[in-house]
Amino acid sequence: MREERILELVQQYVNDHFEHEPSGHDYYHMKRVAKWAGTLAFHEGADSFTAELAGWLHDIGDSKLFDDPDSIYKELDQFLSSIQISPSKRAVIFDIIKNISFSKGQVPESIEGKIVQDADRLDAIGAVGIARTFAYGGLKKQLIYDENDHYSSSIQHFYDKLLHLSSGMHTKKAQEEARKRHDFMEQYLRQFLDEWNSVERAGEEK
Ligand code: NI
Repeated sequence: MREERILELVQQYVNDHFEHEPSGHDYYHMKRVAKWAGTLAFHEGADSFTAELAGWLHDIGDSKLFDDPDSIYKELDQFLSSIQISPSKRAVIFDIIKNISFSKGQVPESIEGKIVQDADRLDAIGAVGIARTFAYGGLKKQLIYDENDHYSSSIQHFYDKLLHLSSGMHTKKAQEEARKRHDFMEQYLRQFLDEWNSVERAGEEK
């Protein structure tokens, strides 16, 4: 089967699973990660097709999103086999999708895996990352911000995770892009806290 045809079928499969996903892990997240993975692979001289394929599929089986990861892994394996992805390529793809999540703290073995991890982390930061953070926080019924730090909040998530991502990029192109997105997040947080604290300043100025 031609690579373009395989990617079309994979997009359809991903759309079936993530079309209505409200947590920021929707079809368009998969698309952005897949396309960035393809671009990073090009710059690194890695296998763009494998990187893009794994990018499309990287959140399949994530325990945040799937109640029964093992059964979806089985389904994915059957699907990939049905579109003529070889057993060795399926093994590479599964190594990638099982090892890229930040919470597990693991790094996939292959360069294509490191690339997909970079692409996924790029999508967690910058303006898009900010939007996804609040979508996810709302879905989890978290506060936007708690100035007393009694409850976990979306703003806290920037300090716990998002501001640490840019320093962990594997590839040069992702490092460059991450720096811009990181700077924008810092600017955003300064503005957010300035507006938040302006309530008290306004009180003092009365
Ligand atoms: Ni993801």
